Amino acid sequence: GKLHNLLLDLPKVEHHMHLEGSLEPDLLFELAARNKIDLPKDDEAFASSESLLARYGRFTSLDDFLHYYFIGMTTLVTGEDFESLAYAYFKKAHSQNVVHAEVFFDPQAHTTRGVKSETILEGFQKAQRRAKDEFGLTSELIVCLLRHISPADCHQAYLEALPDLKNGKIRGLGLSSTEKGNPPHLYKESYEDAKKHGLRLTAHAGEEADVSYMKSAVDDLGCTRIDHGIKLRDDPELLKRFAREKILISMCPMSNVELRVIKSIPELPVREYLNAKVPFSINSDDPAYFGGYIQENYCGVQEAFNLTVEEWAEIAMNAITLSWCSEERKDEML
Ligand code: HPA
Ligand code: ZN
Repeated sequence: GKLHNLLLDLPKVEHHMHLEGSLEPDLLFELAARNKIDLPKDDEAFASSESLLARYGRFTSLDDFLHYYFIGMTTLVTGEDFESLAYAYFKKAHSQNVVHAEVFFDPQAHTTRGVKSETILEGFQKAQRRAKDEFGLTSELIVCLLRHISPADCHQAYLEALPDLKNGKIRGLGLSSTEKGNPPHLYKESYEDAKKHGLRLTAHAGEEADVSYMKSAVDDLGCTRIDHGIKLRDDPELLKRFAREKILISMCPMSNVELRVIKSIPELPVREYLNAKVPFSINSDDPAYFGGYIQENYCGVQEAFNLTVEEWAEIAMNAITLSWCSEERKDEML
């Protein structure tokens, strides 16, 4: 069976999406005009939202995508911009029955342009409150350190976010951007401090780089969740440990295909992880750039693996129980 209607009705939790990655080309051009931001004139992809979307369909690697991703977000300036961005995502997610979302953002990409961290956070928080009030959709923010920036500068960004990590406005710490050559252990200073404070920890690992990056994220950084994490079949011992310790892997099928990490979704280790009881969730990563939101990713997995209702129930339950919300909220969702 195809189960696509069941998958749409299924209450879903998203663990891996970057709010800046939900910036649709139409809003990007609207914000660029309003904020008088110059987009590159020497790249014809920026001629129109149609040409930009067409370029998004031809990414060759993570870095090729990141180039466009970091240009796109330079159009975000005011608190209202950040609010509109996040609200548009929550609204779309709600239309696909997302009931809880744990979303990344990249303060370093904004503060280095002169945007104040309070501006970003206040905008996102307004959107979070509206999503809760209007849709009953709960959410948590995860601050990402950008690993193409030096560990020392990342640590400064971490220290800036620390008060809001301690007061719960930001739920956890993540690590993203160019993976190869920037292994997790380099960011140990920030993660060690965060661990001391009992904070929730995740890192992008095993996307483009090999499984040793996943091991480093767990061993050196103390992560209890790994983003992408599709290389685990290359280390059977580590795979057993993920199952035993219930370390959640937040997979992003369409992202992996669009960034040429895999040729097609059937290459993902969905069967291996189900058989070995490695918990995973299915997510959109950067939906405006990769051609689909969470529902399209669920359907892509179903097309590729033809899972049973019981297997989907297990995926949906793991997504809820391994979320970083309160136990009361989990009980409501179960
Ligand atoms: N990988 C690394 N960094 C990112 C990604 C990703 O898939 N999306 C946004 N930043
Ligand atoms: Zn990501």
